[in-house]
Amino acid sequence: MSEIKRIAVLCSGGDSPGMNSAIRAVVRTGIGAGLEVFGIQKGYAGLLEGNIRKLDVSSVGNILQHGGTMLQTSRCSEFLTEEGRREAANLLKRKKIDALIVIGGDGSFNGAMKLHDEHQIPVVGIPGTIDNDIDGTDYTIGFDTAVQNAVDAVDKLRDTANSHGRTFIVEVMGRRSPAIALKVGICTGAENVVLPTATIDYDKIAADIDRGIKRGKTSSIIIASEGEVEGVGYTIRNSLKDKFNLEAHVCILGHIQRGGNPTPTDRLIASQMGHVAVKAILAGEMASATVFLQGKVSLSPLKNCLRKKNEFDVSDVELLTALSI
Ligand code: ADP
Ligand code: F6P
Repeated sequence: MSEIKRIAVLCSGGDSPGMNSAIRAVVRTGIGAGLEVFGIQKGYAGLLEGNIRKLDVSSVGNILQHGGTMLQTSRCSEFLTEEGRREAANLLKRKKIDALIVIGGDGSFNGAMKLHDEHQIPVVGIPGTIDNDIDGTDYTIGFDTAVQNAVDAVDKLRDTANSHGRTFIVEVMGRRSPAIALKVGICTGAENVVLPTATIDYDKIAADIDRGIKRGKTSSIIIASEGEVEGVGYTIRNSLKDKFNLEAHVCILGHIQRGGNPTPTDRLIASQMGHVAVKAILAGEMASATVFLQGKVSLSPLKNCLRKKNEFDVSDVELLTALSI
């Protein structure tokens, strides 16, 4: 018989579409198993403020299909300190909360790992970030919706680019992760993709644009991954102008990518992960994460999911290059 009676769930770091579907699954699976489930508002910051409320079955009704997170989210510098985490652990103990589910990225997972290591609180991480950049899982909730949002936007830009014979540099999110840029590049037939970890090959970009014009292309799209700071699109535009006298327009898609209704893929994986996370707690897991591997949701030790991932499949780059001639 599990000794777990009360669990809590929070979202931390950047929000991602599908977080609500995961919250709903946690709440309904937990209540269905006889647990009391609490929602912590605004991530670790809300935990430190004691911003906690009991959730019932109805409180998560009609949220599955909405982007953002009903629990809101935050970044919290206090939680980076041992003292902050001790305060958080004490608060959970005072509220008699036996286990914590954290929906967020690798930073949030590192916080959860430390909370467990330092205070023995059982934790489960659910990967939620549009960047798809957490080690140990092939998928993070929100990625599919973000890609869908960006593809919709680039398709629209292509219409106007074709009409004017223009080059557009479209900057997508993802920090140091190449995942969004690569997938969007392939799915929009981009002429070039600039990945966050690569040196920018201006000669190649200019040669590709020139070749395209010569074979009658009416537009060029360059997808640029934002890297650490947004605005790389302007650097690329200025260099193309200075070095090759090429004109390009810049469009930074920004936070639009993070909003909107989650796709069915995000709803499904988020629901499965929320369900598996509660079952993990009931089974006595102490520090685990829900992961998506080989097309299925399963459980993994949390320590395997703490690193930021920025590798990519070279065959994707090969595909993009082969198809954009
Ligand atoms: P994400 O979870 O999306 O990667 P962040 O890296 O901003 O987002 O992390 C979200 C929050 O998680 C931080 O504001 C902080 O409260 C906590 N956090 C991040 N990294 C650590 C860490 N190394 N140790 C403890 N807490 C952390
Ligand atoms: O980590 C998710 C993400 O959306 C990144 O793609 C982006 O660089 C960053 O968050 C933006 O963070 P903020 O919400 O602080 O603007």
